Amino acid sequence: MITRQFVDRQKLQEFHPFTRLRALLEDLPVGRSCLEDGQVINLSIGEPQTQPPDFVTEEIEKAAKGWSKYPLSKGTPAYLSTSANWLEKRYNLPTNFIDPTRHILAVPGTREGLFMTALTVLSTPKKGEEAPVFLTPNPCYHVYTGAAAAAAAEVVTVSATKESGYLPDYTTVPEDILKRTELCVLCSPSNPEGAVADPQRIKDLISLACKYNFVVVFDECYAEIYTDTAPHSALEIAGEIAAELETNFPGSSQPDPLANILVFHSLSKRSSAAGLRCGFIAGDEKWISMINTTCQVGGAGVPIPVQAAGTRLWQDEEHVEVNRALYKKNFDLAQTILGKSVPVEIPAGGFCLWLEVGDGIEVTKRLWQEAGIRVMPGAYMSHANSTGSSPGDRYIRLALVYNSDFMEKALESIRNLLETMKNSETKDLGASS
Ligand SMILES: Cc1ncc(COP(=O)(O)O)c(C=O)c1O
Repeated sequence: MITRQFVDRQKLQEFHPFTRLRALLEDLPVGRSCLEDGQVINLSIGEPQTQPPDFVTEEIEKAAKGWSKYPLSKGTPAYLSTSANWLEKRYNLPTNFIDPTRHILAVPGTREGLFMTALTVLSTPKKGEEAPVFLTPNPCYHVYTGAAAAAAAEVVTVSATKESGYLPDYTTVPEDILKRTELCVLCSPSNPEGAVADPQRIKDLISLACKYNFVVVFDECYAEIYTDTAPHSALEIAGEIAAELETNFPGSSQPDPLANILVFHSLSKRSSAAGLRCGFIAGDEKWISMINTTCQVGGAGVPIPVQAAGTRLWQDEEHVEVNRALYKKNFDLAQTILGKSVPVEIPAGGFCLWLEVGDGIEVTKRLWQEAGIRVMPGAYMSHANSTGSSPGDRYIRLALVYNSDFMEKALESIRNLLETMKNSETKDLGASS
């Protein structure tokens, strides 16, 4: 299913999930949580609650002279080459496939990168012409919609449901829309569902992008948080295409395997460093250069001491393994605790649980009022169709971002409420039959 919409830049609050959640809960009395002090438990935001390694502070102090300088627009040579090395190692890319000077751009985070990309890639329609299309999954991270609105593009969403593996199948989009598409985003592992795209899905999307000449943003900011198997990257697929071309047509001039591909990474999830604001975009040289110009004009860049800390974080895998183990443990807890009451699907990646509960908004209100727990209703991360329904209506999103003792208490509290709701529904049904 697809939806089509123009979002008014001056009405961003209408789709901003956190604004909508605040409005939903602000007049409802909050219940006492299961914590000793009864304080609210906030599982609505995907913000890691563990700390980044101590060396972050040390690196920032060592590079403190950089505070007086404007950052180099593209990134420091050390940050760019470390990012390229990390990509090569993580995705087993051909040597020198990623040239740090041409294929990488430092950005404060995926969020800022997305905005700058939308502003750069989406064209300004000429008078009388239709607006460009930005294809996004539904549900999705709200910044995609915000970036499309900022660039005055038409947002066309493609449902990501249980049946589609919780990922959008862009090959189902009608041709007249594909012809107008200039930008498309695939998030893997996805937010909110944690679904991971397999290589074929990525390949199909790259082929579609080449056929219709649009740019694909691969939002891979959760790539390092996975339960069993490390997710694939679009760069890996591009690397394979490059190797195949080289084998079949050695030495001849070949199409650029990175054409139309932009891959986004950041340290926010991988290193629990959302406040550091440090990430990068890798991919198509032409677009990297143009997005860099947009950043030079309208962005602040990544401060030099922040890049120094970021450089060290991309070089260290130990702290990432610790983070991964924590989220895996939290998913196991969710399976054990919630699995007794509702179907729990442990996602392949990310740290959020996309839980099917029936009426997501009703459960959100009850959790707030009766258990002091704040969760995100799936409907607020989704685009509704013309009848007002959306693929997120039956879901809530729980960010399992705290230590396991804390999560255990919160999950038990959620299970208790879901059980109470189930029992009262059964009673009501009994009374009416
Ligand atoms: C899917 C997705 N993309 C991007 C971001 C932005 O992350 P950052 O800008 O911190 O890299 C988030 C944050 O929650 C997200 O969930």
